[in-house]
Order: sequence, then structure tokens, then C-alpha cells
Amino acid sequence: MAISLKVNGAVRAVPAEPDTPLLYVLRNDFELNGAKFGCGLAQCGACTVLIDGKATRSCITPIGALGNSAITTIEGLGTAGKPHPLQHAFIDEQAAQCGYCINGMIMSAAELLDNKPKPTEDDVRQSLAGNLCRCGTHNRIIRAVLRAAQANANGRT
Ligand code: FES
Ligand code: FES
Repeated sequence: MAISLKVNGAVRAVPAEPDTPLLYVLRNDFELNGAKFGCGLAQCGACTVLIDGKATRSCITPIGALGNSAITTIEGLGTAGKPHPLQHAFIDEQAAQCGYCINGMIMSAAELLDNKPKPTEDDVRQSLAGNLCRCGTHNRIIRAVLRAAQANANGRT
């Protein structure tokens, strides 16, 4: 059966069963490889995407549960020519080492900044607590999120 999903502003159909995890469809059918497979068990955050603005683990989200929800992946957040302030800040802070966790971190941070444009460091730490980084670049990641918030406050993108 075909299921329609609204991804990064476009409606796309996929021939898949309703219990198929969203992560598999994004990567295998839509060639959106920004969301990563880490644990597959909602434990690491590498697969995080936004669903109606809420940071969500796509590895355990069945596509049949999504209906008309708006799905945003890292590919829909910014472009190479016009990166999202978070993408800018992560580059400026050189926050990635291997980079595997980074897209999930950015998506979780995007939810935070949408809801709280001027977060404290503690807010950032709490919002990213469920996103794991095996390289240990957490301090740079936190600095990058705070930098993006500051850039937003200064009206820079
Ligand atoms: S792959 Fe989804 S939380 Fe780890
Ligand atoms: S930069 Fe390697 S897992 Fe975070």
C-alpha cells in the first residue's frame, strides 16, 4: 500500500506498510540521509526529526501514525546557500568531530529555539540530554546552540 507523507513541505508517497519506521522511509525511499540510524531504540537521538515542530525519534515512529503531520528533516532546515542559524553556528564552533550525532542535535536544538529563543545554558543541556555524542564534543555543541540563539537575537542569519 502507498502512504503519503508531508516531508520538508512536499507531499510524497511511499509504497510501504504502516508500521515501517519513518527513519527507513526517509533514508531508503526518499534519499534524505541526514537523519542517522544509531541505536534504533529511541536511545541516542541520531535519528531526530521534527514532526509538527516537535523533536521526534524517527527510528521508532511508524509512518502510519503520521497522517498529515509536517515532517522536517535537517535537509529542510536550511540550504547550503542559506544555512539555518544553527547550522551556521555549528560550523562556526566546529562542533562536529565524526559528525554522526550532529544532525539529531541540531533538530533537537531547533525545537528548543523555536519554543525558547533565548535559552539558558541549562535549557540547552536539558533539551540535548537525550542526544548522545560518542566523540564527546558536547561543550562545543552547547556553545553552538547558544551562539545560534545569540545570532537570532542580533537579527543575524
Ligand atoms: S537511532 Fe533513533 S534514537 Fe537512536
Ligand atoms: S561528533 Fe561524533 S558522535 Fe558526536
